[in-house]
Amino acid sequence: MGRLAVLISGRGSNLQALIDAIDAGKLDAEIVLVISDRAGALGLSRAQKAGIPAQVLLWEGEERRTQYFERMTELLQKAQVDLVILAGFMRLLSANLVRAFPQGIINIHPSLLPAFPGLRSQRQALEYGVKVAGCTVHFVDEGLDSGPIIVQKAVPVYDGDTEEILSERILVKEHEALPEAISLVLSKQWQIRGRRVICEY
Ligand code: GAR
Repeated sequence: MGRLAVLISGRGSNLQALIDAIDAGKLDAEIVLVISDRAGALGLSRAQKAGIPAQVLLWEGEERRTQYFERMTELLQKAQVDLVILAGFMRLLSANLVRAFPQGIINIHPSLLPAFPGLRSQRQALEYGVKVAGCTVHFVDEGLDSGPIIVQKAVPVYDGDTEEILSERILVKEHEALPEAISLVLSKQWQIRGRRVICEY
């Protein structure tokens, strides 16, 4: 059984999808720690309700970035996690933290990467005019939304879509993609070829 830490910044619906997948026996894992960089994050109460230890690690500004991620690395190492999941965690990790967990950090992003990295990807997709959008679960490397791709799921974009409507359609797929990707990674039956994670079963 894999030991997961989940990092959040807000609503925590992806965290909830993981809690539900574990409860339903679809994901053989245990969430041993939730860390939020915001005090009021809704995801914190989801963790609390599920009996998962949750901690707020308040962001103290760019000038304390190094110390912030050193502290986070300590917490994650102390919790002896197998995988760190960025589930709506809206900060770029330090290179040292990424190096401390080689192929041990995964992120969910609301676009079909490499299209539309960064913030408000659904809006970027609408503004560009694409007809297919989606989500990507990928390993985290030292870049922005740039590591090897584990799972992607696509959704159509309709003419009348707003950012909210498209985000909601993508979110449904995110909630399927994240547990699926974690199961694959925990199975250890994969390898990285180029920028792809290849499933070996
Ligand atoms: C999700 O749409 C996730 O893909 C996105 O934030 C949302 C968090 O929702 N993440 C990013 O944009 C990261 N670059 P949630 O808090 O309900 O899981």
